[in-house]
Amino acid sequence: MITPRHLLRIQDLSAEEIRSLLDLAEALKRGEGSSTSLAGRCIGLLFNVPSTRTRVSFQVAAAQLGAVSLPYGTQELRLANRESIEDTIGVLNRYLDALVVRWYDMNEPGAGHERLRQMADLARIPVINALDDEEHPCQVLADLLTLRELFGADAASRRIAYVWSYSPRQKTPGVLHSSMMAAALLGHRATIAHPPGFAPREKVTRSARAIAARSGGDITLTENLEEAVKGCAAVYTLSWKSAVLTGQEEIQARTRLAGRWRVTAPLMRQASDGEEAVFLDCMPTTRGEEVDAEVKDGPRSRIFQQAENRLHTQKALLTQLFDGTLRGEPR
Ligand code: CP
Repeated sequence: MITPRHLLRIQDLSAEEIRSLLDLAEALKRGEGSSTSLAGRCIGLLFNVPSTRTRVSFQVAAAQLGAVSLPYGTQELRLANRESIEDTIGVLNRYLDALVVRWYDMNEPGAGHERLRQMADLARIPVINALDDEEHPCQVLADLLTLRELFGADAASRRIAYVWSYSPRQKTPGVLHSSMMAAALLGHRATIAHPPGFAPREKVTRSARAIAARSGGDITLTENLEEAVKGCAAVYTLSWKSAVLTGQEEIQARTRLAGRWRVTAPLMRQASDGEEAVFLDCMPTTRGEEVDAEVKDGPRSRIFQQAENRLHTQKALLTQLFDGTLRGEPR
């Protein structure tokens, strides 16, 4: 049996593979490439929590490539009646050509990623992580395309500030982790600004820095919001649940940070590396919570470009999974 290629973490792709995927995404965005390369394929979308961008962009990507996409909530399958993952994947293996999965529960950190890994181990088809409690590789592929479009050949040297921002909702650190690992793989410069108690998981920071040491990248952590945005080309708002605080302690700590940890117009005015910084946001975010409306809707906001790029990068990913470009282990 040929082992299928899965995308559970951004580092399941090599730097060379990411660049090749972005090249194809750019071509597809220009309207080049086949619109029937996935004809006859069936892509399952299994989500245990809601999604707008990921779900719809995968559905449109599949349609534009000639494939069929089939979305299911976990409550719609017999999983809801305690059917095992082994039996579920054993059956889906026989029907589908790829499975896109979003799975997490903020009360059980790490269990979502474990669930995806278990599915991938059982699957004879590619399993694609559509956001779990560890990673969001598909979002970050779109962000990398956006950075390439914004900064061209300078993308590696322009610093991106990933800024923890208050949200009343506990969010997964998936985008943060995948962004750190992608920066490390590609030799980019990233600053992570976070309040006390909200540092990225130590093992992710350690691993990203080890990879960055080889690629020429840089991963800097700071608790100083204003310092973080000085010298940066982009400010990216993100929110994630603390890795060390639990229960009410975490909620109270986060609530105390409301207002202070938010991307505001004065903060954006300090954000420059000689050129005024752009504002990035994977969405969803709420105006007045993670970010002020005048920033989110302002002239330096590139959030809809990011959202659009979900479509182009996922079309490139699906194409390369089936045309043999992505096969076996990462190169
Ligand atoms: N950014 C993102 O993954 O959005 P959705 O939750 O709407 O898919």
